[in-house]
Amino acid sequence: MTTLHDAAGPELTAAQLYAILRLRSEVFVVEQDCVYADIDGRDLPADTRHLWLTGEDGELLAYLRVLTDPGGLRRIGRVVTARAARGRGLAARLMAAALADATGEFVLDAQTYAQGLYARFGFVPEGEEFLEDGIPHRTMRRPAKDGAVG
Ligand SMILES: CC(C)(COP(=O)(O)OP(=O)(O)OC[C@H]1O[C@@H](n2cnc3c(N)ncnc32)[C@H](O)[C@@H]1OP(=O)(O)O)[C@@H](O)C(=O)NCCC(=O)NCCS
Repeated sequence: MTTLHDAAGPELTAAQLYAILRLRSEVFVVEQDCVYADIDGRDLPADTRHLWLTGEDGELLAYLRVLTDPGGLRRIGRVVTARAARGRGLAARLMAAALADATGEFVLDAQTYAQGLYARFGFVPEGEEFLEDGIPHRTMRRPAKDGAVG
């Protein structure tokens, strides 16, 4: 059984933030062998939303964050599932939770191999593939519904 958590930046406890940064570091820096500034100053603002799933022992299984870019556009990022928990639909569950009831536009920069995950939620690739920190990415956008802005 898993538990869904949903918190704005200022609501995170030190232990929650530590677990989140630990998983991000384990996967994006160590597993993907990529030196980049994961701690980018965007985790603590009130308009940043963190969503994650924990297992029965409280361990962090999967995570993503939703940023608010200047102008109000929502940006999904740092989508990650612990290695041992992959392929069980956890990232898809977090995507569904992040987008539930949302009508505004969303954007994300997908690692090219993972585009299928986002396409299932209405994200459409745009522009050319590009390298970010040496990893191939593609920008994907999910249009607002019926001209909604929020
Ligand atoms: C990408 C990632 C978050 C997927 O997490 P997950 O919990 O295993 O994903 P799910 O089980 O919810 O899979 C949902 C969909 O994602 C896609 N997907 C997941 N892993 C994939 C992979 N390794 N290759 C291609 N597509 C994949 C599939 O479309 C899958 O749909 P399916 O169930 O019909 O096959 C996980 O593999 C991960 O943490 N990778 C390392 C970090 C990373 O690259 N994050 C993505 C940044 S854009």
